[in-house]
Amino acid sequence: MVSRQMQLLSLLAVAHSVAATITASQVKAATTAASNVASKACCLLLQAELGSKISFPSAAAYEESVASYWSVQNNDIDPICIVSPTATADVSLAVGSLHAASSFGLECPFAVRGGGHTPWAGAATIANGIVIDLSAMKQVSVSKDRTITSAGPGARWIDAYLMLDAMGLAISGGRVASVGVGGLTTGGMVFVRGGMSFFAPRTGLVCDNVVNFEVVLADGAVVNANCEENSDLWYALKGGSNNFGVVTRFDFQTFAQGDLWGGAIIYPSSTLPDQLAAFVNFTHSATYDPHASLINSFGYAPAAGTTFVSNSLVYTAPVVNPPAFQQYTSIQPQFANTMRISNLSDFALELNANTPYGFRQLFYTGTYANNLTLLTQLAAQLNESMQPVNGLASLNNYAMSLEPLPTTITKWGPEKGGNALGLDPSDGDLVLVLLGVTWGDEADDEIITNAVTDLFTKFDAFAASQSGLNPYLYLNYAYKTQKPIQSYGATNVKKLQAASKKYDPSGVFQNLVPGGFKLFAS
Ligand SMILES: Cc1cc2nc3c(=O)[nH]c(=O)nc-3n(C[C@H](O)[C@H](O)[C@H](O)COP(=O)(O)OP(=O)(O)OC[C@H]3O[C@@H](n4cnc5c(N)ncnc54)[C@H](O)[C@@H]3O)c2cc1C
Ligand SMILES: *[C@@H]1O[C@H](CO)[C@@H](O)[C@H](O)[C@H]1NC(C)=O
Ligand SMILES: *[C@@H]1O[C@H](CO)[C@@H](O)[C@H](O)[C@H]1NC(C)=O
Ligand SMILES: *[C@@H]1O[C@H](CO)[C@@H](O)[C@H](O)[C@H]1NC(C)=O
Ligand SMILES: *[C@@H]1O[C@H](CO)[C@@H](O)[C@H](O)[C@H]1NC(C)=O
Repeated sequence: MVSRQMQLLSLLAVAHSVAATITASQVKAATTAASNVASKACCLLLQAELGSKISFPSAAAYEESVASYWSVQNNDIDPICIVSPTATADVSLAVGSLHAASSFGLECPFAVRGGGHTPWAGAATIANGIVIDLSAMKQVSVSKDRTITSAGPGARWIDAYLMLDAMGLAISGGRVASVGVGGLTTGGMVFVRGGMSFFAPRTGLVCDNVVNFEVVLADGAVVNANCEENSDLWYALKGGSNNFGVVTRFDFQTFAQGDLWGGAIIYPSSTLPDQLAAFVNFTHSATYDPHASLINSFGYAPAAGTTFVSNSLVYTAPVVNPPAFQQYTSIQPQFANTMRISNLSDFALELNANTPYGFRQLFYTGTYANNLTLLTQLAAQLNESMQPVNGLASLNNYAMSLEPLPTTITKWGPEKGGNALGLDPSDGDLVLVLLGVTWGDEADDEIITNAVTDLFTKFDAFAASQSGLNPYLYLNYAYKTQKPIQSYGATNVKKLQAASKKYDPSGVFQNLVPGGFKLFAS
């Protein structure tokens, strides 16, 4: 410890002397340069502790990490160095050192990266800072009694599904193979489980779907958070994202699962009125079949030169064309239909093929009452919002997805030990909306972003005027200007802030981790 402090102080002296040579006329450059120098000092400090697990520009490990985000906006960011931990102890050492450095006045801003799927720039990477890239910690294992699946924070859903399929088991998780376990789980999906997961909630579980998180706290301490131990942290991590620590292991409730019936059906947009009527009926809690999950998307695909409707349907039992889905399977005409009996990994890989890497990406979200008048208006406004963008040569896809959130699903939040999301059965049956845009040219960023934000500004005002606007914003679908954590409501935000003050009293995950959605943002 003494030697670490000495080393720190000498690095600090270097950082300060370099920073001191910068003149006042170069204020902006100076600020960047000074923070770069400080970050470089932080990286050298980490290198002394973690050796080859720290990499710098042009090293293979660095270049591979920087280029591996889903959106090009994130691949464009060049951090000062990358930390590539292979075990919890490495994460503990890294976070503990960065925390210690700040108590000596050396500010080490950092980012925490899971599967790297957040579209907007800087949620899981940082210019002028350090990225803790958890990718190598991707081990998945199943307990001897087959009730718990443990996944490292670098695991992708496919890593878990491939192992579980072979054992006749499953966990509740994401639909798309390459999405990270880390961000999706801490962003709250697993605790809502609507159309975003293949699985509706299971009955009879004592705690939640994630029975335990292993977490590295700001001071480097490793703790468990579950319904008995550090239960306020467990509660907070169910939707609180990167505000409390780095989760180094997720323990998921595991259940027996055989094959499923699922796939995609593509229709022309002329079927839209039938689709919306089917969606609203499907999402009624009174008749909701918990085996049936659905994502109903409509939008514009320039390559095909057409607007379309694309439904992703999964029934979590090997039943062909069950009654709950007949209102969709009967809609004609159909351009394509891949419905079949298969396994979880096969469906996750099918969806992966539709979400390629290498593009600019934007997600934006809203939550509304399950009401046909509202959704019909939303579809019309979506169509209108496409007018300024559908002539852009670099546009690849502009689509809106509707996901059911009936009370049949939201009721499980409170029943499973609670979570901070602020969703309650008293909100009624809800629809989660995700607008996703994929394009190639940076020059088109502004026109696309404006089209999307305009659409939601107008539609939210309309929905509010019809008492159909729910405040909840799903963190994992939110754009950087949205405030998903604040959308959980004042009472929940206060609980989360109390957990932050208790587990991270010096505010490391608030001040040194600027990326992602922050808890104290106003
Ligand atoms: C193609 C695609 C498909 C998707 N499909 C689904 C789906 O089926 N269902 C669904 O619910 N959502 C889905 N999403 C949304 C997805 O849940 C979010 O993008 C999610 O945040 C991605 O997690 P990640 O670990 O890959 O991303 P990252 O960008 O690496 O992480 C997201 C945030 O979580 C933080 N974080 C990550 N890991 C940890 C950790 N171990 N400890 C603390 N903080 C951490 C990061 O700092 C970052 O701010 C999809 C997204 C994409 C792009
Ligand atoms: C899952 O389905 C795929 C596609 O049919 C198949 O190749 C694979 O063997 C299946 N996995 C298991 C464990 O049966
Ligand atoms: C409404 O949904 C229920 C259950 O999902 C289904 O049985 C019924 O046939 C649907 N009604 C219509 C008109 O499609
Ligand atoms: C979308 O708008 C175009 C005209 O701009 C119209 O022809 C088309 O019918 C509209 N589609 C929907 C689904 O409203
Ligand atoms: C749907 O919303 C409209 C107003 O936008 C309202 O008149 C109607 O009663 C609502 N329908 C249901 C079933 O709640």
